[in-house]
Amino acid sequence: MPDGQNAARRNKTEDDISAEVLARFSETPDPRLREIMLGLIKHLHGFVKEVQLTEAEWFQAIEILTEAGKMCSDKRQEFILFSDTLGVSMVVDLLDHRKPDGATESTVFGPFHRLGAPDLPMGGNIAHRDQTGTPALVSGRVLDLDGKPVANALLDVWQAQTNGLYDSQDQDPNALHMRGKFRTDAEGRYLIGTVLPVNYPIPSDGPVGRMLKATGRHPWRPAHIHFVVSAEGYEPVTTHIFDRTDPYLQSDAVFAVKDSLICDFARHESEDETASRLGLAPPFYTAEFDFRLVPAESVQATVMDAQQRLAALGAR
Ligand code: BEZ
Ligand code: FE
Repeated sequence: MPDGQNAARRNKTEDDISAEVLARFSETPDPRLREIMLGLIKHLHGFVKEVQLTEAEWFQAIEILTEAGKMCSDKRQEFILFSDTLGVSMVVDLLDHRKPDGATESTVFGPFHRLGAPDLPMGGNIAHRDQTGTPALVSGRVLDLDGKPVANALLDVWQAQTNGLYDSQDQDPNALHMRGKFRTDAEGRYLIGTVLPVNYPIPSDGPVGRMLKATGRHPWRPAHIHFVVSAEGYEPVTTHIFDRTDPYLQSDAVFAVKDSLICDFARHESEDETASRLGLAPPFYTAEFDFRLVPAESVQATVMDAQQRLAALGAR
């Protein structure tokens, strides 16, 4: 072999591989996809090199992802659960839904929204099968940023049952329960009948649960009620309201608590006119929360659109 060739020859390094992969993806025609792929490769290769990942650990990761995939259905989304418990969902939420001051802040969508919740009238009860919870009335208004009422806004509401499970996790997973769609009246008012929300552990019987256990983390979420509030001409907001007294507010397993979403649930030991009209005997709780929507600048893809796609995936 000529001397020149020998001198030029050297063993490939891990950085040579990274550079080659980056070069290959730098030909991606779509500029946004190119940016995402180059960022992904840079950080993924950087991560593998930083922790000096072994082949056994790499294979364990493949097993974990395979198991997560096998667990997914129209009723279980282990990948969203990974995203939530790694804090990625909340970072994406913050980046993609920056709100002006005064607007209701968004939070994680979670894996338990379902399409097809029933339309309920003002004061309708979403908790008709929940025998053990304490009744609660949640009321308030949907307003714009100037404080003007938003009439006919839609509130898509869902909540865990008092046993800590969502309907899709319980004995009859096809039956809808603790879900409803409410509309605001001309003054922007809404009224929801439910039970006091409880804290509950996120599903821990899969790879996410094992990750939490292995890293010394608990799986609990503070008591909350989920909302997607939308109205013609406004940006929809995906959010929760949280019970101020909950011990897990500071350590939510999915990092979703924001101060502005914490709400007082007041306990009542005596009769109240609205509660009696709706058939609620004491003790019961009331909570008030106003949602403030931002005017829409353009038609936006929402997390609900993503939910439609997921439902279609599950139905396949
Ligand atoms: C939920 O609140 O329903 C939820 C959110 C993220 C992960 C698991 C559950
Ligand atoms: Fe929840």
